[in-house]
Amino acid sequence: MTPSNLAIGVDVGGSSIKCALVDLDTGAFASERFSAPTPAHDSTETLLAALATVVANIPGTHAVGLAFPSVIRGGIVRTAANLNKAWIGQPLAKLAADHLHRPVIAINDADAAGVAELRYGAARGVPGTVLLLTLGTGIGSALFVDGKLVPNTEFGHLEVKGQEAELRASGRVKVEKNLSWDEWAGELNLVVNTMHALLWPDLVVLCGGITEEPEEFLDKLHCEARLVVGALRSEAGIVGAALATALG
Ligand code: BGC
Repeated sequence: MTPSNLAIGVDVGGSSIKCALVDLDTGAFASERFSAPTPAHDSTETLLAALATVVANIPGTHAVGLAFPSVIRGGIVRTAANLNKAWIGQPLAKLAADHLHRPVIAINDADAAGVAELRYGAARGVPGTVLLLTLGTGIGSALFVDGKLVPNTEFGHLEVKGQEAELRASGRVKVEKNLSWDEWAGELNLVVNTMHALLWPDLVVLCGGITEEPEEFLDKLHCEARLVVGALRSEAGIVGAALATALG
């Protein structure tokens, strides 16, 4: 393995910052996975400091791919649905590079999960339209057309019967509203089928920690498109972030 086949993937989620060194040939972790709580509503400086502390667990000067729960255009944060609004307009890639002393590429977290599932996981080799949804603190989306990412789709904010999709069926909502699997799957059915009616995807991939228990909900979901859970589960964001360093 040459050093250029390795990159650090960092996934900043609403609740935790996770990172690992990733072998880009296989998508497998080449180090232990490290994590720390996300100070999501603290200052940008506090979050950057937390990021630096977690990434410092991985020695070397490998490039860093940073998955962030925001629209990211040209390395700049454009939205902050579940973060301190002070992030809006911040040059994340540059700020993180200054703190981590390594080159940094920043990408939306769901787009990161999507590129990982497309390269190594459940959407590998799938032609046509692929919709990936991450069901964590919010709902993130990644849309692919014949393997090409349409970046920064924000379908988690789509209004579904008068309420934002991510306020109906995110992993966080299941916990906070203490929904049963049946109740949560009912909400997710509404969300997925509303998106289906607008996009007509060939495949829908569900990701995020909550999808580690597919036996609890997968057979309760009904969609005309093929619907699967991601192969990389909650690690997709880390792997895709690392891969983003090689995609340019
Ligand atoms: C944000 C997205 C993000 C998703 C998952 C949403 O609230 O607007 O940018 O991908 O949460 O973290």
